Amino acid sequence: MTTWAHAWDESTGQERARAAFAAAFGATPPAGVWSAPGRVNLIGEHTDYNGGLCLPVALAHRTFAAVRPRVDDAARMASSWDPTAVVHLALESVAPGTVDGWTAYVAGVAWSLREQGHRVGGFDVAVDSCVPVGAGLSSSAALECSVALALDELNGLGLEREVLTAAAVRAENEIAGAPTGGMDQAAALRTIPGHALLLDCRDLSVRHVPFAPEADGLALLVIDTRTEHALVDGQYAARRATCEDAAALLGVPTLRELTDVPGDAERALATLDDGSEGSDVRVRRVRHVLAEIQRVVEFVDLLDAGRLRETGPLLDASHASLRDDYEVSCLELDVAVEAARAAGALGARMTGGGFGGSAIALVEVDAVTAVADAVDAAFRERGLRAPSFVA
Ligand code: GLA
Repeated sequence: MTTWAHAWDESTGQERARAAFAAAFGATPPAGVWSAPGRVNLIGEHTDYNGGLCLPVALAHRTFAAVRPRVDDAARMASSWDPTAVVHLALESVAPGTVDGWTAYVAGVAWSLREQGHRVGGFDVAVDSCVPVGAGLSSSAALECSVALALDELNGLGLEREVLTAAAVRAENEIAGAPTGGMDQAAALRTIPGHALLLDCRDLSVRHVPFAPEADGLALLVIDTRTEHALVDGQYAARRATCEDAAALLGVPTLRELTDVPGDAERALATLDDGSEGSDVRVRRVRHVLAEIQRVVEFVDLLDAGRLRETGPLLDASHASLRDDYEVSCLELDVAVEAARAAGALGARMTGGGFGGSAIALVEVDAVTAVADAVDAAFRERGLRAPSFVA
């Protein structure tokens, strides 16, 4: 029996958030419920903090925040996963290093909007979510962005999505302390239905690329391996630092600049390959980033040409590069990807930061169940905890 994590419909999400709000704060209803989705990235992994390209799509799974403004400066925060614990703090007291746990993502957004110079008053908030947590599907960005939308409207700020995205990224980087690159928040706030979001992280411009696998008789199967490995934060930060060091060594602001002129990428890799301490690792990390940016370009070209069926090899190559050069895969992700391919997937790869989390597989619509069963069986054969499928 495979396990499926289904998305809630809009009214279920709204009702659940309202119920959580009533349980935490009593009968007076919230002013409204705002929501934002989790994401999967089709391709372009570990490119965002290098000024590169990525191509996320929004999940049907969303986080719902029921919010009521307050007349004072306090934030009271409740969630359905921890209903007894209402966290209460003065917004004025929020600063880097002062808030722990999930409330950092909520209070952090109020903090960063204020840092941007906007008037944001106190609020009561209760959240509920069907975005799987710890699955590499950006539940934290969905939380930040649902709150950002609420605070924008309740405080009459009228901010552009791009500005709200920046506020959510800052909350995550500075208050939650996770040095992530911004793709997840852009996916939560800037995608539109039926499209993938081609995000250019050099200038944060976007293009909405039609993405409708069902029109080609295909489906995107999302496999949550339900594994999260220790040291994740440190490993992510280390990858980012290696890329930034390499860019500095090469005298460019970000690795992206090396993709502008044909031949620069090869020259840069040759320069880095100087036999000095750490040069081998640096070369492999940079090689992944440069090739991955190129794969996004090729993937989008295929989508634009209506040739989604031909994207499988790009997904496979992305996975190999993340596994071998970037070294952010793990046994569970490799097993998921290999089992999906063996069962007929056109292509498969890990998605998100890695070290656990989720994989995606492009499969024929009528093979979804068979591929999921095959992945589930492969996990069981190896004695791994059963995965969950996100639909
Ligand atoms: C995590 C981060 C993103 C991005 C991906 C890797 O999801 O939050 O900013 O760097 O990893 O592509």
